[in-house]
Amino acid sequence: MKTPIETATELIQKANNIIVLTGAGISTESGLSDFRSKSGLYQHTPSEILSRDFFQKQPEVFYEFIQTYLRIQDVEPNKGHHLIARWEQNGKVSEVITQNIDGLHQAAGTKQIIEFHGTLKTATCMNPSCRQAYQLEQVFERKEERPYFWLCDCGELIKPDVVLFGDVGSHMNHQDIFDIRTRIWDCDLLLVLGTSLEVYPFSDFVRYRNKDVPTIIVNKGRTSFDYERNVLVIRQSIGDVLEQIDQNLQES
Ligand code: OAD
Repeated sequence: MKTPIETATELIQKANNIIVLTGAGISTESGLSDFRSKSGLYQHTPSEILSRDFFQKQPEVFYEFIQTYLRIQDVEPNKGHHLIARWEQNGKVSEVITQNIDGLHQAAGTKQIIEFHGTLKTATCMNPSCRQAYQLEQVFERKEERPYFWLCDCGELIKPDVVLFGDVGSHMNHQDIFDIRTRIWDCDLLLVLGTSLEVYPFSDFVRYRNKDVPTIIVNKGRTSFDYERNVLVIRQSIGDVLEQIDQNLQES
Protein backbone atom coordinates (compact mmCIF):
# COMPACT_ATOMS: atom_id res chain seq x y z
CA MET A 1 0.00 0.00 0.00
CA LYS A 2 1.18 3.51 -0.79
CA THR A 3 2.15 5.87 2.01
CA PRO A 4 0.35 9.24 2.16
CA ILE A 5 3.59 10.89 1.02
CA GLU A 6 3.83 8.58 -2.01
CA THR A 7 0.21 9.35 -2.86
CA ALA A 8 0.84 13.08 -2.44
CA THR A 9 3.91 12.80 -4.71
CA GLU A 10 1.84 11.16 -7.45
CA LEU A 11 -0.84 13.84 -7.19
CA ILE A 12 1.70 16.66 -7.31
CA GLN A 13 3.52 15.00 -10.20
CA LYS A 14 0.36 15.13 -12.31
CA ALA A 15 -0.52 18.72 -11.39
CA ASN A 16 0.68 21.93 -13.01
CA ASN A 17 -1.76 24.49 -11.66
CA ILE A 18 -1.44 24.09 -7.90
CA ILE A 19 -2.84 26.70 -5.56
CA VAL A 20 -1.25 26.73 -2.12
CA LEU A 21 -3.13 28.05 0.90
CA THR A 22 -0.95 28.69 3.94
CA GLY A 23 -1.25 29.65 7.58
CA ALA A 24 0.93 30.20 10.62
CA GLY A 25 2.00 26.52 10.70
CA ILE A 26 4.34 26.98 7.74
CA SER A 27 6.30 29.60 9.68
CA THR A 28 6.70 27.74 12.99
CA GLU A 29 9.78 26.02 11.54
CA SER A 30 11.25 29.52 11.16
CA GLY A 31 10.77 30.13 14.88
CA LEU A 32 7.46 32.03 14.87
CA SER A 33 4.56 30.78 16.99
CA ASP A 34 1.23 29.84 15.50
CA PHE A 35 -2.02 30.92 17.16
CA ARG A 36 -4.19 27.93 18.08
CA SER A 37 -1.96 24.91 18.66
CA LYS A 38 -0.79 23.92 22.17
CA SER A 39 2.19 26.23 21.85
CA GLY A 40 0.21 28.93 20.05
CA LEU A 41 -0.05 32.59 21.03
CA TYR A 42 -3.73 32.34 21.97
CA GLN A 43 -2.80 29.99 24.83
CA HIS A 44 -1.55 33.00 26.78
CA THR A 45 -3.13 35.98 25.02
CA PRO A 46 -6.79 36.26 24.02
CA SER A 47 -7.41 36.62 20.29
CA GLU A 48 -9.15 39.98 20.96
CA ILE A 49 -5.70 41.57 21.03
CA LEU A 50 -5.70 41.25 17.22
CA SER A 51 -9.01 43.09 16.89
CA ARG A 52 -9.55 46.59 15.58
CA ASP A 53 -11.43 47.51 18.74
CA PHE A 54 -8.57 46.46 21.00
CA PHE A 55 -6.01 48.20 18.78
CA GLN A 56 -7.92 51.48 18.94
CA LYS A 57 -8.44 51.29 22.70
CA GLN A 58 -5.00 50.03 23.75
CA PRO A 59 -2.48 50.67 20.95
CA GLU A 60 0.45 50.50 23.38
CA VAL A 61 -0.47 46.92 24.44
CA PHE A 62 -1.10 45.94 20.82
CA TYR A 63 2.32 47.28 19.72
CA GLU A 64 4.01 45.59 22.66
CA PHE A 65 2.39 42.29 21.64
CA ILE A 66 3.45 42.45 18.00
CA GLN A 67 6.96 43.54 18.92
CA THR A 68 7.35 40.69 21.42
CA TYR A 69 5.61 37.83 19.64
CA LEU A 70 5.49 38.58 15.93
CA ARG A 71 9.14 39.54 15.49
CA ILE A 72 9.17 39.02 11.78
CA GLN A 73 12.37 40.97 11.20
CA ASP A 74 14.32 38.32 13.13
CA VAL A 75 13.25 35.28 11.10
CA GLU A 76 14.24 33.61 7.83
CA PRO A 77 12.20 31.43 5.49
CA ASN A 78 12.50 27.69 6.11
CA LYS A 79 12.63 24.71 3.76
CA GLY A 80 8.84 24.67 3.39
CA HIS A 81 8.82 28.25 2.06
CA HIS A 82 11.82 27.51 -0.19
CA LEU A 83 10.30 24.38 -1.70
CA ILE A 84 7.03 26.14 -2.49
CA ALA A 85 9.03 28.89 -4.21
CA ARG A 86 10.98 26.26 -6.18
CA TRP A 87 7.77 24.52 -7.24
CA GLU A 88 6.52 27.87 -8.51
CA GLN A 89 9.70 28.33 -10.55
CA ASN A 90 9.23 24.79 -11.93
CA GLY A 91 5.74 25.70 -13.09
CA LYS A 92 3.84 23.47 -10.67
CA VAL A 93 2.56 26.12 -8.27
CA SER A 94 0.55 28.96 -9.80
CA GLU A 95 -0.14 30.98 -6.71
CA VAL A 96 0.19 31.13 -2.93
CA ILE A 97 -2.60 32.64 -0.87
CA THR A 98 -1.44 33.15 2.69
CA GLN A 99 -2.91 34.31 5.94
CA ASN A 100 0.59 35.05 7.18
CA ILE A 101 1.78 38.59 7.68
CA ASP A 102 5.46 37.68 7.95
CA GLY A 103 6.58 38.07 4.31
CA LEU A 104 8.48 34.75 4.43
CA HIS A 105 7.06 33.35 1.19
CA GLN A 106 8.35 36.39 -0.71
CA ALA A 107 11.67 36.21 1.14
CA ALA A 108 11.98 32.64 -0.18
CA GLY A 109 11.30 33.85 -3.74
CA THR A 110 7.58 33.22 -4.28
CA LYS A 111 6.35 35.76 -6.82
CA GLN A 112 2.64 35.10 -7.22
CA ILE A 113 1.29 35.72 -3.75
CA ILE A 114 -1.73 37.17 -2.05
CA GLU A 115 -1.25 38.27 1.55
CA PHE A 116 -4.86 37.83 2.55
CA HIS A 117 -4.38 39.28 6.04
CA GLY A 118 -2.00 42.01 4.89
CA THR A 119 1.58 42.54 6.00
CA LEU A 120 3.41 43.47 9.15
CA LYS A 121 6.21 45.13 7.21
CA THR A 122 4.40 48.41 6.69
CA ALA A 123 1.91 50.65 8.50
CA THR A 124 -0.36 53.56 7.58
CA CYS A 125 -1.84 56.52 9.44
CA MET A 126 -5.58 55.96 9.98
CA ASN A 127 -6.45 59.60 9.30
CA PRO A 128 -8.15 59.52 5.85
CA SER A 129 -6.74 62.93 4.95
CA CYS A 130 -3.18 61.99 6.01
CA ARG A 131 -2.55 58.30 5.20
CA GLN A 132 1.18 58.72 5.87
CA ALA A 133 2.94 55.43 5.00
CA TYR A 134 5.61 53.92 7.26
CA GLN A 135 7.84 50.88 7.44
CA LEU A 136 6.86 49.18 10.71
CA GLU A 137 10.49 49.27 11.82
CA GLN A 138 10.38 53.05 11.39
CA VAL A 139 7.39 53.23 13.73
CA PHE A 140 9.31 51.34 16.42
CA GLU A 141 12.37 53.54 15.87
CA ARG A 142 10.24 56.57 16.78
CA LYS A 143 10.04 55.11 20.32
CA GLU A 144 13.38 56.73 21.15
CA GLU A 145 12.01 60.26 20.82
CA ARG A 146 8.27 59.89 21.36
CA PRO A 147 6.40 58.25 24.24
CA TYR A 148 3.32 57.91 22.02
CA PHE A 149 5.28 56.51 19.07
CA TRP A 150 2.11 54.92 17.59
CA LEU A 151 0.68 58.37 16.85
CA CYS A 152 1.34 59.98 13.49
CA ASP A 153 2.47 63.63 13.38
CA CYS A 154 -1.14 64.47 12.49
CA GLY A 155 -2.25 62.99 15.84
CA GLU A 156 -4.07 59.90 14.50
CA LEU A 157 -3.12 56.26 15.14
CA ILE A 158 -0.60 54.51 12.89
CA LYS A 159 -2.00 51.07 12.10
CA PRO A 160 0.14 48.19 10.81
CA ASP A 161 -1.14 47.11 7.37
CA VAL A 162 -2.66 43.90 8.73
CA VAL A 163 -6.26 42.82 8.73
CA LEU A 164 -7.62 42.75 12.27
CA PHE A 165 -10.77 41.06 13.54
CA GLY A 166 -13.52 43.64 13.08
CA ASP A 167 -11.87 45.47 10.19
CA VAL A 168 -14.48 46.37 7.64
CA GLY A 169 -13.73 47.19 4.03
CA SER A 170 -10.37 45.46 4.23
CA HIS A 171 -7.85 45.52 1.39
CA MET A 172 -9.74 42.64 -0.29
CA ASN A 173 -13.04 43.58 -1.87
CA HIS A 174 -15.84 41.26 -3.05
CA GLN A 175 -14.42 41.11 -6.56
CA ASP A 176 -10.97 40.07 -5.26
CA ILE A 177 -12.54 37.32 -3.17
CA PHE A 178 -14.68 36.18 -6.10
CA ASP A 179 -11.56 36.05 -8.32
CA ILE A 180 -9.67 33.96 -5.75
CA ARG A 181 -12.59 31.54 -5.51
CA THR A 182 -12.65 31.22 -9.29
CA ARG A 183 -8.94 30.46 -9.47
CA ILE A 184 -9.34 27.89 -6.70
CA TRP A 185 -12.16 26.25 -8.63
CA ASP A 186 -9.90 26.13 -11.71
CA CYS A 187 -6.76 24.75 -10.05
CA ASP A 188 -5.77 21.12 -10.57
CA LEU A 189 -4.60 20.56 -6.97
CA LEU A 190 -5.22 22.48 -3.78
CA LEU A 191 -2.37 22.28 -1.26
CA VAL A 192 -3.26 23.49 2.23
CA LEU A 193 -0.35 23.99 4.63
CA GLY A 194 -0.27 24.85 8.33
CA THR A 195 -3.65 26.34 8.99
CA SER A 196 -6.43 25.31 11.34
CA LEU A 197 -8.89 26.75 8.76
CA GLU A 198 -10.83 28.39 11.57
CA VAL A 199 -10.80 31.96 10.38
CA TYR A 200 -13.44 33.10 7.91
CA PRO A 201 -13.42 34.10 5.03
CA PHE A 202 -10.07 32.42 4.34
CA SER A 203 -11.35 29.07 5.62
CA ASP A 204 -14.17 29.26 3.11
CA PHE A 205 -11.79 29.12 0.14
CA VAL A 206 -11.50 25.37 0.64
CA ARG A 207 -15.23 25.07 0.02
CA TYR A 208 -14.81 26.62 -3.41
CA ARG A 209 -12.57 23.84 -4.69
CA ASN A 210 -13.76 21.51 -7.42
CA LYS A 211 -14.29 18.31 -5.42
CA ASP A 212 -13.15 16.22 -8.40
CA VAL A 213 -9.73 17.82 -7.96
CA PRO A 214 -7.52 16.54 -5.13
CA THR A 215 -6.81 18.55 -1.99
CA ILE A 216 -3.80 17.80 0.19
CA ILE A 217 -3.77 19.15 3.75
CA VAL A 218 -0.45 19.09 5.61
CA ASN A 219 -1.22 20.14 9.14
CA LYS A 220 -0.30 18.75 12.53
CA GLY A 221 -3.70 19.63 13.98
CA ARG A 222 -7.14 18.69 12.73
CA THR A 223 -9.31 20.79 10.42
CA SER A 224 -13.00 20.57 9.65
CA PHE A 225 -12.18 19.53 6.06
CA ASP A 226 -10.13 16.44 6.97
CA TYR A 227 -12.86 13.91 6.21
CA GLU A 228 -14.24 15.44 3.03
CA ARG A 229 -14.14 13.66 -0.29
CA ASN A 230 -10.87 13.72 -2.25
CA VAL A 231 -8.92 15.23 0.65
CA LEU A 232 -5.59 13.65 1.64
CA VAL A 233 -4.45 14.63 5.12
CA ILE A 234 -0.84 14.38 6.32
CA ARG A 235 -0.40 15.28 10.00
CA GLN A 236 3.33 15.83 10.01
CA SER A 237 5.79 18.69 9.83
CA ILE A 238 5.42 20.70 6.63
CA GLY A 239 9.15 21.04 6.00
CA ASP A 240 9.76 17.29 6.26
CA VAL A 241 6.72 16.37 4.18
CA LEU A 242 7.52 18.78 1.36
CA GLU A 243 11.17 17.73 1.40
CA GLN A 244 10.27 14.06 1.03
CA ILE A 245 7.81 14.82 -1.75
CA ASP A 246 10.42 16.94 -3.51
CA GLN A 247 12.99 14.14 -3.29
CA ASN A 248 10.48 11.66 -4.67
CA LEU A 249 9.66 14.03 -7.52
CA GLN A 250 13.34 14.36 -8.40
CA GLU A 251 13.89 10.60 -8.32
CA SER A 252 10.88 9.83 -10.49
P1 OAD B 1 -3.54 28.51 13.57
O1 OAD B 1 -2.64 28.67 14.74
O2 OAD B 1 -5.00 28.61 13.79
O3 OAD B 1 -3.25 27.11 12.87
C1 OAD B 1 -1.95 26.68 12.59
C2 OAD B 1 -1.95 25.19 12.37
O4 OAD B 1 -0.66 24.80 11.92
C3 OAD B 1 -2.26 24.40 13.61
O5 OAD B 1 -3.32 23.48 13.33
C4 OAD B 1 -0.96 23.64 13.90
O6 OAD B 1 -1.19 22.32 14.40
C5 OAD B 1 -0.32 23.58 12.54
N1 OAD B 1 1.16 23.53 12.57
C6 OAD B 1 1.99 24.30 13.30
N2 OAD B 1 3.27 24.05 12.97
C7 OAD B 1 3.24 23.09 11.99
C8 OAD B 1 4.24 22.42 11.25
N3 OAD B 1 5.52 22.69 11.40
N4 OAD B 1 3.85 21.49 10.33
C9 OAD B 1 2.51 21.21 10.15
N5 OAD B 1 1.53 21.83 10.84
C10 OAD B 1 1.89 22.76 11.74
O7 OAD B 1 -3.04 29.57 12.46
P2 OAD B 1 -3.84 30.10 11.19
O8 OAD B 1 -4.75 29.07 10.66
O9 OAD B 1 -2.82 30.69 10.29
O10 OAD B 1 -5.36 36.26 11.88
O11 OAD B 1 -4.67 31.27 11.84
C11 OAD B 1 -5.47 32.05 11.04
C12 OAD B 1 -5.53 33.47 11.52
O12 OAD B 1 -5.85 33.50 12.92
C13 OAD B 1 -4.20 34.22 11.45
O13 OAD B 1 -3.94 34.74 10.17
C14 OAD B 1 -4.42 35.33 12.45
C15 OAD B 1 -5.07 34.53 13.56
O14 OAD B 1 -5.95 35.28 14.36
C16 OAD B 1 -5.24 37.55 12.10
O15 OAD B 1 -4.36 37.99 12.77
C17 OAD B 1 -6.26 38.39 11.43
